[in-house]
Amino acid sequence: MADAYLDFIRSVYRITGLDLNQYKRPQMERRILSLMRSVGVNNLADYAVLLQKDKNQLDKFINHLTINVSEFYRNPGQWEVLAQQILPQLIKKNSSLKIWSAGCSTGEEPYTLAMVLSELDTKGNHQIVATDVDQEVLKRAQEGIYNIKAAVNLPKNYLARYFDRDGEVIRVKDSLKKLIKFKWHNLLTDTIENNVDLLVCRNVVIYFTEEAKASLYRKFHQSLKPNGMLFIGSTEQIFQPQEIGFKPAAMFFYQKIS
Ligand SMILES: C[S@@+](CC[C@H](N)C(=O)[O-])C[C@H]1O[C@@H](n2cnc3c(N)ncnc32)[C@H](O)[C@@H]1O
Repeated sequence: MADAYLDFIRSVYRITGLDLNQYKRPQMERRILSLMRSVGVNNLADYAVLLQKDKNQLDKFINHLTINVSEFYRNPGQWEVLAQQILPQLIKKNSSLKIWSAGCSTGEEPYTLAMVLSELDTKGNHQIVATDVDQEVLKRAQEGIYNIKAAVNLPKNYLARYFDRDGEVIRVKDSLKKLIKFKWHNLLTDTIENNVDLLVCRNVVIYFTEEAKASLYRKFHQSLKPNGMLFIGSTEQIFQPQEIGFKPAAMFFYQKIS
């Protein structure tokens, strides 16, 4: 039997290279149908034609699907573990860490990394690469302009040191911006970064199928240096990490063992 959803995601793959087969269907289908209706289209075949010919609609579609919610210092307890336990251990062995924020959205996560790292190590020569599949969020990340609400969890001294504030608007200072390189990248299809010391991928795989997630964690293992760390989101967990060469290092942190 014809399946309009599968036909539609085949078209999306042809147009964008984004393989929605690797994302959980119920969530994706719900979001696609609601967006389609909001632009006045009634069926997926017509919607695919619209996306093919209208770049603005296509950008809007990708932006809607990719769910970009983020904030600075998201889940503070985990950033404290990173700052007090994980990073000191990594810095002790290496004064030029390579850190990858994968699925960085509008930048709050890599900027948080840059702040935590700057607080810990003023002399190091570290590199932070931040990637996402959505051009629109990367543009906003590079601009580094946010509403103060994005910083509710951020320690107050960080806010004062790394931002310029104008009423409700906060701007990341250039000294912090220059520590991060933002790049477009599709985690499901593109070659991964290598020689990574700390890989941060939080609240991204929740939208992926179990198979896509398992395969990505195997790629992350290859991406890391021996003893490198993977930092995942607060609702995520790797079952039987040793099977892919990780051991738990703390809640939400896994260390490459082989
Ligand atoms: C909810 S945000 C998470 C942002 C940040 N990591 C955090 O925890 O606050 C999820 C991000 O994953 C990105 N994403 C989804 N699929 C992706 C893919 N295949 N490759 C790269 N990024 C992807 C989305 O564009 C979105 O910006």
